[in-house]
Amino acid sequence: MSSDTVNTLAADTRLVREHLAAVSLPEAMDAAQIADYKTRIKALLKEKDAVLVAHYYTDALLQELAEESGGFISDSLEMARFGRDAAASTLVVAGVRFMGETACILSPDKTVLMPTLDATCSLDLACPAEDFDAFCAAHPDREVVVYANTSAAVKARADWVVTSSIAVDVVEHLAAQGKKIIWAPDRHLGAYIQKRTGADMLLWDGACIVHEEFKARGLLDLKALHPEAAVLAHPESPDAVLEIADVIGSTTQIIQAAITLPNDTFIVATDKGIFYKLQQLAPHKQFLVAPTAGDDATCRSCAHCPWMAMNSLDRLYNTLLHGSNRVTVDRALAERAMVPLQRMLDFSAQHKLKVAGKA
Ligand code: 13P
Ligand code: SF4
Repeated sequence: MSSDTVNTLAADTRLVREHLAAVSLPEAMDAAQIADYKTRIKALLKEKDAVLVAHYYTDALLQELAEESGGFISDSLEMARFGRDAAASTLVVAGVRFMGETACILSPDKTVLMPTLDATCSLDLACPAEDFDAFCAAHPDREVVVYANTSAAVKARADWVVTSSIAVDVVEHLAAQGKKIIWAPDRHLGAYIQKRTGADMLLWDGACIVHEEFKARGLLDLKALHPEAAVLAHPESPDAVLEIADVIGSTTQIIQAAITLPNDTFIVATDKGIFYKLQQLAPHKQFLVAPTAGDDATCRSCAHCPWMAMNSLDRLYNTLLHGSNRVTVDRALAERAMVPLQRMLDFSAQHKLKVAGKA
């Protein structure tokens, strides 16, 4: 068994810094402005036969609006599935760029709009398609498994696309067939999967700027103050944080754990946008943000993705009004990226049946 990393950190850090400098966060609004935008957006969604699909990390106002307008809030896997199955001819994806691209690939006949096309992801930035292609070509004996947080071109180079909710199961399945694996781009998630499955994995060296900032030392201090609390962590967090966690899982799995565990208090090591759903579904429980690196952190707002934060009511309104910020993916590229994406969706549907004892 072997596990190694590829050093792409220099390029990754520079690109991330450049993109962070371009982040423009939305202006705060008063209650009357919010109500006005919401009314106008709901009318436009109807008029344009559009549905709003929002990630758990987006602003609570957008999540609220998705619910109020018959849209959907979820993790990246379910966003993809919902968008594909939705009857509406236009999908408005509130999240980051790769989520819009995935919607576009899975629903080639629908119009996909985003409140901003500048919302990227440090994992996507850390994995340029040409470098990744050369790396894969140097290891032709390995199955290529990539995280959904990648460009369409990287997905097109992969055998499998996975999200955090299904990554361990897919790699377990491949390892059972004796397959050796290339994993990209998140090194923390890769190391976690490697540890869980024992698979032979070569890891790309990307990281999420939000989850990477969670600190084990601060987490232990907070846990000492709340000994009854359970720690819930997203697997993009560093190993030392995952070691302390009671539950490690995707955003949906974190929410499920908060609902089902008997604890009244939870320390949550993921983006704090998820607190909207946590508080809604477990209103009598207390949720605390896991400590981050504070002032020294590279993220502009710790425990909150600066790119997710770019999604706002006014940008969403303008997008719908003008039909702007349309996401496009080259047809041929989309057809290639569709293959590993479809493999994931088929696997996940089969896996659900297996877990339910029906297959
Ligand atoms: P999920 O797949 O759990 O929604 O996570 C997406 C993501 O970007 C995590 O940072
Ligand atoms: Fe990417 Fe991290 Fe933001 Fe998720 S939270 S979109 S992984 S930068």
